[in-house]
Amino acid sequence: MRIGVYGGSFDPVHNGHIAMIRSALKSGFIDCVIVIPSVRNSFKLYTNKLPAPYRFYMMKETVEGLGLKNCYVSDIEYNIEGVSYTAVVLAKLTSDAYIRDFLTDNGVKRKKAEEHHEFFWIMGSDTLGTFETWYKPGEILNYATLLAAVRPGDTTDVDKASSSIRKNLGGRVEIFRLDGVECSSSEITTSGDFSKVPDPAREFIKLHALYTENTKLAGVSEDALKQFYDSSVWMYHYLGAKRLLHTLNVGYLSAHLADVFGCDKDKALIAGALHDCAKELPLEKQTELAREYAGSLFTEKKLLHSPAGASFASEQFGIKDKEILDAICYHTTGRGNMSILEKVVYLADKIEPSRTYTDLTPIREAAEKDLESAMRMTASAVRDKFVSQGRDIHPMTLLMMKDLGM
Ligand SMILES: [Fe+2]
Ligand SMILES: [Fe+2]
Repeated sequence: MRIGVYGGSFDPVHNGHIAMIRSALKSGFIDCVIVIPSVRNSFKLYTNKLPAPYRFYMMKETVEGLGLKNCYVSDIEYNIEGVSYTAVVLAKLTSDAYIRDFLTDNGVKRKKAEEHHEFFWIMGSDTLGTFETWYKPGEILNYATLLAAVRPGDTTDVDKASSSIRKNLGGRVEIFRLDGVECSSSEITTSGDFSKVPDPAREFIKLHALYTENTKLAGVSEDALKQFYDSSVWMYHYLGAKRLLHTLNVGYLSAHLADVFGCDKDKALIAGALHDCAKELPLEKQTELAREYAGSLFTEKKLLHSPAGASFASEQFGIKDKEILDAICYHTTGRGNMSILEKVVYLADKIEPSRTYTDLTPIREAAEKDLESAMRMTASAVRDKFVSQGRDIHPMTLLMMKDLGM
C-alpha cells in the first residue's frame, strides 16, 4: 500500500486538517492516511493547550464521526520515549511488524497489511522550506517521500524548496493540490470561534469543557504543568478513553476549585488528574497496592482503586507529596477532618463536565461559591444512592458527613 502519514498537534483539529487529509487521499499518490496526533513533538514540548490524550481522542472521534474512509489514527508516539521526532516515529511506524499489526487492527485485510508499503510524509508547503533544518532529515527521506500540499495562491517557492531537498539530501518530493479552507488552531483558540472545527470535535470540546478559562490553568507552575502532561501520557497505558478523560477533567476542575476555595492549585491539578489512575488495574493488583497505602481500611472492590491509586502514583509516577496522595486515597469515601484539597478532589470527581449521570446543575452552581454546601449536596446524593442499593456507607464517609453536619 501507499501510506500517507500526517502528524500534527491538532490542538484542536480543524477543517484545514480535514481538507489536507481529503486532498491527500484524492491526490492519487496514496491509498490511505495514518494521522498521528503528537505526544511530545520537538517544537512544542509542553506548550500544547491540551495534554496529548484529549487531542488523540478528539481526532479519533472526528475521523469516525465524519466517516473518513481509509484514514486511521495512530497512538504510536505514546510508545516513544522522549521527543517524538519525525525520523524516530517513521523508523518505528515503517517496521514490518508494527505497520502490519496497526493496519490489521484498523480493519485492513491481513494480506494487504503484509504487502510491501511505501510511505509518504504529508506536510504543508510552508514547512517544505525549513525541512532541511529538521532532526535527521536524510533519515526521514530514507523512510518516506515528502508529499507537500500546495494551495492556489501559495507564495512558497515549492519548486526551489523541493529541488534543494532533492539535491542536498537525495530524497523524493511530490506535490499535491490542497482544496479547502485555510485556518489555524491557535487562531481558533484565541478568538474562541470554533466554527471551523468539525462537528464531532466541537461536541468533544463541549462535553469536556476544553479551551475554557479553567483549562488554561493560569497560575499553575511549569513543573506541575509538565507533571500533568506527563501523567496523561503515563495513564494512557493504564486507562481506557472514557476513564482517562474523566480523570484528566477532574484535574482541571480541581485546579479551578483550588482557585475558588484557596488551596494549592498545583497539588489540586495533580491529585485530581491522578485520582483514578489505578481504577483499571487487575483487582489483585489493586488489593495489593491498596493494602500498602491504607492497610485494611478499604476492602470493598469499588473502593480499592482509591488507596491503590495513591500507591500507584507514588511508586510508578513518583508522586511523594502526602497531601496529594491522601487526596487520591480518600476521593471515593471522604473521611473526617478533610483538608480543602481533599474536598476539592472529592467534589470535582462527582461533578466534572463530562459527568451526566444526573442533573448536576445545582451542585455545580454551589461549587462555585460554597464548598461545604456543595459537599453536603454531593454526600446526600451518595447517601441516597447507597440506601437505594442497600449498601453500607463506609465508616469514613459517615465521619465526613458528621463533619458536614449531616
Ligand atoms: Fe474513583
Ligand atoms: Fe473518578
